Amino acid sequence: MKIDILTLFPRMFDGFLTESIIKRAIDDKKALINIHNIRDYSTDKHKKVDDTPYGGGAGMVLMCQPIFDAVKDLSKKDTKIILMTPQGVIHNQKLAYNLKDNKHLIFICGHYEGFDERIRSIADMEISIGDFVLTGGELPSMVVVDSVVRLLDGVIEEESHEKDSFADDLLDYPTYTKPRNYEGLEVPDVLLSGHHENIEKWRQTERLIRTLERRPDLVQNKHGYFVAKDNHNKEILYMEYDKIKGFEMMPKNDAKREDVISVNKMILIKPSFVNKVIKLKIDKKMKSLYDKFNYLLTTEDEEGTAAVLDEAVRYRQFLINNYVAFLGEKYRDLILNKLQIMINELNIRQRLMGEIRENELSGKSR
Ligand SMILES: C[S@@+](CC[C@H](N)C(=O)[O-])C[C@H]1O[C@@H](n2cnc3c(N)ncnc32)[C@H](O)[C@@H]1O
Repeated sequence: MKIDILTLFPRMFDGFLTESIIKRAIDDKKALINIHNIRDYSTDKHKKVDDTPYGGGAGMVLMCQPIFDAVKDLSKKDTKIILMTPQGVIHNQKLAYNLKDNKHLIFICGHYEGFDERIRSIADMEISIGDFVLTGGELPSMVVVDSVVRLLDGVIEEESHEKDSFADDLLDYPTYTKPRNYEGLEVPDVLLSGHHENIEKWRQTERLIRTLERRPDLVQNKHGYFVAKDNHNKEILYMEYDKIKGFEMMPKNDAKREDVISVNKMILIKPSFVNKVIKLKIDKKMKSLYDKFNYLLTTEDEEGTAAVLDEAVRYRQFLINNYVAFLGEKYRDLILNKLQIMINELNIRQRLMGEIRENELSGKSR
């Protein structure tokens, strides 16, 4: 791929082109990147490239002539001309994939107040890197070029960008490296197991959980189905349908038309995924109960003991009524037993505190 960048500040690109993966892509001839000083194209005897805005106002505006001439000089039949502007479409991974299939890109970097509006007429597209304003288009063009060049064949391993965040509407999975234990922070056991199938499943589940927790917008409000599959056995992990149209559910047996139920949301979830999410919720609740329980062991707080006892009894019943079917036998027994032990202990403490209180009262009345 050939990339030409038009700028008033070519030296801003020095580090960008001479370090890391971009440098390697250039050395390996995967990308040819040329930086052009817009001033070199000025026909003005003082090499003027900008002027004050018509109608008054702050700042200087890039003039048409040098940019029109530069683009004319550099363009070929298949060239895509990109104008960097905060008013353009916001850059994302899909656009990066789209741009990587072009043979030749020209980037125009504005500076100061911006550029003469007529420059828009020669651009094929306008790209912004986000809803904020920078002093010039140099950093934004580097951001876009970097995101495109790393996707070119042979620049980095395909596997490493295929699963990057946003590549398929999901965020990336968590990664760890040595040591196994860093100041008490452990690496998840599955990653040390050497069991590739389980590792793959764990990663796919983590991607889904992360996306649903941090960026639900990536998988919601989409038209059509969003279906996430387990890479290994192709089972559906998560599926969501268009919010507006919804689904029609036909009750079984002798359903009549009026028995059809319309629903707006239907999520099909793999049991192991449900299991994982429920376990996370249970572990969180158990931790909070344990914190309260441990605190109560250090006090004689009768009211607090009654409240936590009530909470533990209710929670145990809630698990039995709602979640038991989704949990593995071992985990289910473990949690229910832990709760029962906590309940027994709190019952004993509550009784003892009651007896002490009554003894004190009867002592006083004597
Ligand atoms: C100070 S900005 C001009 C902003 C302009 N007055 C406006 O509000 O649209 C100068 C140049 O920086 C570049 N620029 C600034 N923020 C950008 C962004 N978020 N995305 C892409 N280019 C940006 C553009 O090339 C722009 O012409």
